[in-house]
Amino acid sequence: MTTVGVFDSGVGGLSVLRALREALPQVDFVYFADNAFAPYGERPAEWVTERSAAITRWLLERHHIDALVVACNTATAAGIDSLRQAHPALPIVGVEPALKPAAALTRTRQVGVLATRGTLASERYARLRERLRQSHPAVQWHERAAVGLAAAIETGDTAATQRLTQEHVSALLAQAPALDTLVLGCTHYPFAAAAIAQAAGTGVRLIDTADAVARRTRDVLDATPTGQGKVTLLASGDAQALATAAQRWLGWTEGAEQVGNLR
Ligand code: DGL
Repeated sequence: MTTVGVFDSGVGGLSVLRALREALPQVDFVYFADNAFAPYGERPAEWVTERSAAITRWLLERHHIDALVVACNTATAAGIDSLRQAHPALPIVGVEPALKPAAALTRTRQVGVLATRGTLASERYARLRERLRQSHPAVQWHERAAVGLAAAIETGDTAATQRLTQEHVSALLAQAPALDTLVLGCTHYPFAAAAIAQAAGTGVRLIDTADAVARRTRDVLDATPTGQGKVTLLASGDAQALATAAQRWLGWTEGAEQVGNLR
């Protein structure tokens, strides 16, 4: 049996889990939404790193995972290096804003990046940006910390999602009117893709990484996966909110369970 653990601060990682299920239909997934502590994007990096370590230990000990997908840009930026150090035998796949595909696709060479403050402030993001500066020197990057947006999506607050999307995308367009490519650098944002696309206008292409992460996960699983394609949805906080999001956005009816202490 192959079990892959997936976690995020909340419902955002479901956008990655959807692609994982499609790419790996026979794998069993345990999805953990840390929604008692969402959003991660405004928390100190050290806190996110420690919390990611605790979640990973718990997924290994309680759920015997064979691989881990950190379905959160913020947690990847803060903690993936130390997770890999602590668990050298565990295949770990993270998510990063898709700068490289964006650089390849843009025609106007004006690319926007929407992400959390934590992701954009991280050293990991700075390194990624520097690599792209060298490989694609003509591309101009316009970053915007979409403060509040992940939280609005997390709580299913459609009015706030609309308002914040408009505010953040307008700010990017004011800075770069010729922008034609917009990287969704937080796994929550694909669930606001319609609102983001509307705010950005027809000439702007949105990019996320879910499919690439699913392909990468398929590659790192060393044996041919076996399992029943079962998905277990777990939450540290409101399990009903997770179940509702899975049903509303993905049509999944599995339900979700609350877990107390991660021990
Ligand atoms: N979904 C997460 C990410 O990709 C975190 C959003 C948040 O909790 O702030 O960054």
